[in-house]
Amino acid sequence: MRLIQISDCHFRAKANELRYGQNADANLERMLSQVRAWRPDRIVATGDLADTASVEAYERLFERFRSLACPVHVLAGNHDDLGAMRSQLGQGIDQPLWIDHPPWRLVMINSHVDGQPWGRVSREELKRVEQAIDCPHHVVAFVHHPPAPVGSPWADRQGLTNGNELVNMLLNKPIELLSFGHIHHLWQGRYRGLKMVSAPATFSQAKPGCTRFIDDDRPPGARWFELGENGELASGVLRAL
Ligand SMILES: [Fe+2]
Repeated sequence: MRLIQISDCHFRAKANELRYGQNADANLERMLSQVRAWRPDRIVATGDLADTASVEAYERLFERFRSLACPVHVLAGNHDDLGAMRSQLGQGIDQPLWIDHPPWRLVMINSHVDGQPWGRVSREELKRVEQAIDCPHHVVAFVHHPPAPVGSPWADRQGLTNGNELVNMLLNKPIELLSFGHIHHLWQGRYRGLKMVSAPATFSQAKPGCTRFIDDDRPPGARWFELGENGELASGVLRAL
């Protein structure tokens, strides 16, 4: 399976509105030409899809997603509004608990907490994720907020408040990789033995290692995954030209 993770599109209600000198619509479009050329079978979009969480933002963003002509599976981030987001699902865009594409299962973990920049995986969600991972497939999981420190203090203040609880549950489970968004920069490593990576944003890029969000001049990015028939996993980053 050829999979692309898109994250942190931060669409505003009005098209092409500049925020921090960035145009979310134009940046996404630059990214999508690269995504199209890569020919994914599926897309996962891991939150902060809208910046102001208006219906108009989701309507416009999902129309762009539909132009990719492959299924798109979404998760909510801290900026998202569940009601507004869900009102625009359908026609190839869903918010599933998991996606089976044998021999792979993609598990989607909800960390959204209404009105808060940080995230939390509820007790019920932890239970559900634990059950979803207990399957005969190879598993890759996705969540918006990083469960572990990423070395950028501003992002670490807004991570998962119970990241350790999630990691405790995932340890010793047959999970190949956990990927997140939210931090707008690349990160990869192991945390307590669990292999984790991030996807860059399609909106604005942050310089890693800063106490506050400082713009980086890298182009919009997305993460690609090649998930093989025998459990082989390769991943890397696509950048807009
Ligand atoms: Fe976020």
